[in-house]
Amino acid sequence: MIIITGITGGIGNFLFNKFSQLGDPIIGTYHLNKPEGKIYETTVPLDITDFSQVEKFIASIQSQSKEITLINCAGVSANAFAHKSNIEDWNKVINVNLTGTFYLIRAILPVMREHNFGRIINLSSIVSQTGVMGTSAYAASKAGINGMIKSIALENAQKGITINNINLGYFKVGMINTVPKEIQEKIKSKIAANEFGDPENIFSTIEYIRNTPYLNGSCIDLNGGLV
Ligand SMILES: NC(=O)c1ccc[n+]([C@@H]2O[C@H](COP(=O)([O-])OP(=O)(O)OC[C@H]3O[C@@H](n4cnc5c(N)ncnc54)[C@H](OP(=O)(O)O)[C@@H]3O)[C@@H](O)[C@H]2O)c1
Repeated sequence: MIIITGITGGIGNFLFNKFSQLGDPIIGTYHLNKPEGKIYETTVPLDITDFSQVEKFIASIQSQSKEITLINCAGVSANAFAHKSNIEDWNKVINVNLTGTFYLIRAILPVMREHNFGRIINLSSIVSQTGVMGTSAYAASKAGINGMIKSIALENAQKGITINNINLGYFKVGMINTVPKEIQEKIKSKIAANEFGDPENIFSTIEYIRNTPYLNGSCIDLNGGLV
């Protein structure tokens, strides 16, 4: 079974539709608005920053499968130079991207350990590795999950569980649409491929991770040769 958080977002929605079309058993979580359509019947509301909601969600689905893949797509960004930034924005970005992601992992690990199988895949960002002005909170949150998985991989490797991150560059869907067009063009000029990524590449990387049990505690760069 596949669990995807943040399925109303650009990437989460693409992945939810893709895995649904392939017929894999799937559960998606949305945050504020339930998406419309028959395909979204297996979606539930979840605020990943509320651990009691996360625990209830995992308890409600844990008997449905012995082979679970958790794909953490929910995320937020906030752009401001650090010296002018808003403390609420800092807390929100860290709470969703780092703490919320950990909450899902914390709640699902006992289930995965019981079944001696699990795949956890988090969407991280190239911004955790390179300086991008205005992204201190976002970069810290993604660098946090890149560090976090190293310990979790060690703790669970002998239970058939792997945890890996994908350090995404810039993709055609989702958050990129909040970036002004002129900045988008500047970013594109730094990408060797000279275009934003097709989310199909995220899907194929997830499939690679799912099918490669020796890959564990890794962060895979997926950025079209961004310099
Ligand atoms: N798109 C890119 O090029 C890119 C690049 C690097 C990394 N990423 C990462 O990839 C992931 C998906 O990105 P995206 O572009 O698809 O983002 P997006 O379009 O902004 O979608 C983010 C999703 O997260 C959900 N969310 C926000 N706060 C939440 C909360 N407290 N609880 C549960 N869900 C919450 C949103 O739901 P609501 O709208 O209802 O709040 C939305 O469904 C993110 O982690 C992002 O950091 C994306």
